[in-house]
Amino acid sequence: MATLAVPPVASPEDAIAVVDPKSYSAWDPLLDVFDRLRAETPVVRIEAPDDQFAPFWLVTRYDDVMRISKDNAGFLNSPRPTVLTNRKGEELARSITGGSPNLVNSLVAMDAPIHMKMRRLTQEWFMPKSLARIEADIRDLARRTVDRLVEAGPELDFVTQVSAPYPLHVVMQILGVPEQDEPRMLFLTQQLFGGQDKDLNKSGVADLSPEQITQIVLGAVADFERYFDELAEKRREQPTEDVASLLANATIDGEPLSPRDLAGYYIILAAAGHDTTSASTAGAMLALSRDAAQFAQVKADRSLLPGIVEEAIRWTTPVQHFMRMAAHDTEIAGVPIKAGDWLMINYVAANHDPAQFEQPRKFDAARSPNRHLAFGAGAHQCLGLHLARLEMRILFEALLDRLESVEPAGEARRANSTFVGGLKTLPLRIRAA
Ligand code: HEM
Repeated sequence: MATLAVPPVASPEDAIAVVDPKSYSAWDPLLDVFDRLRAETPVVRIEAPDDQFAPFWLVTRYDDVMRISKDNAGFLNSPRPTVLTNRKGEELARSITGGSPNLVNSLVAMDAPIHMKMRRLTQEWFMPKSLARIEADIRDLARRTVDRLVEAGPELDFVTQVSAPYPLHVVMQILGVPEQDEPRMLFLTQQLFGGQDKDLNKSGVADLSPEQITQIVLGAVADFERYFDELAEKRREQPTEDVASLLANATIDGEPLSPRDLAGYYIILAAAGHDTTSASTAGAMLALSRDAAQFAQVKADRSLLPGIVEEAIRWTTPVQHFMRMAAHDTEIAGVPIKAGDWLMINYVAANHDPAQFEQPRKFDAARSPNRHLAFGAGAHQCLGLHLARLEMRILFEALLDRLESVEPAGEARRANSTFVGGLKTLPLRIRAA
């Protein structure tokens, strides 16, 4: 493709649609914006109004998002914020951390060579073979969760009853967090990821200023750090088989992990492990509640379940973007990109690219192939993808065993969030089998 002489710049309306958390609560109009941008200007410069955000390139085509994700030397995670952050938030993070643009020093904020060394510490734990050890526990938890759902019926909110607590409980067990501390973890994660949504950040205030949101996120990070510092200390004194023990006692190049690295690791596992899976689980249930025939079909034929799980993950794309920084001058879709430029790889747009997915807005459990990008690709590809799939499959087996039918019982509402998005309420009417 020829290099464009004048790089495309998004209109102010489109720029707002991309950076405003509220636009992520109305899915279809947002997908319309991505469709138009992808077709006309697949790499487009976003200059947010009032210069609140540093300018960045929005990348919407599947192939381009894939290329950037896989080129981990050409597109870096650590030098600039890995999640869309306003200038004030970045400034604050740099001043608090002593230079890093990311408040939490987690795997997604690292580059080679330290990234792989850190990732290898737990990678084995999250492989299917290791997960088989905890499958019986997950199955037991899924059964209990569905029992509670049936008790709460016939009308209930699926998010509060099932999709939020279930994956939280799984990841907390893996981490070694006792059950009585789970509400605190749920609250903190919602503050961390849902800082932009008044229902999720628990402030009860609509239209918080960016500074207020940053304060909420900062408070959550500090509380997470305090909590996991204590947990690590306990596991050093008395190691167990959980991931907290593994990390508390791990070394890299002969040195134990620093408190900030340790906290960052726990936080990403605690946080990444449940809001995401909650969103894809609720999305799958929404799709099934709207399609009685599909529900009956999968109830009768469980071999369809893996397809449903995979399609739910694509269709919901809970992690909506990550950011990268170009390491050197390059070109994407004919647009010259300079070393140091910031890019948004937009998984929602990529997973709705008609060049890759026929009728992308349709929930099609039979979609094959379904090589979606919801888990990313390359060196940072989701560490928990096997766990997420396993959890969802087991939960839906339990749900399909116990439920005769399910239908919508009100309006399902999405969170206001540019980063991890998805349903925050899903009112359903169920009939037990
Ligand atoms: C449906 C559920 C999930 C989705 C959609 C999801 C999505 C993602 C995405 C898009 C990335 C970044 C990939 C990239 O940069 O290429 C990521 C990274 C990560 N995810 Fe997940 N995730 C899910 C569940 C989980 C679970 C259950 C865990 C584990 C407890 C987890 C742990 C992580 C970690 C640790 C990383 C960082 C990996 C690295 O940077 O090396 N995720 N996830």
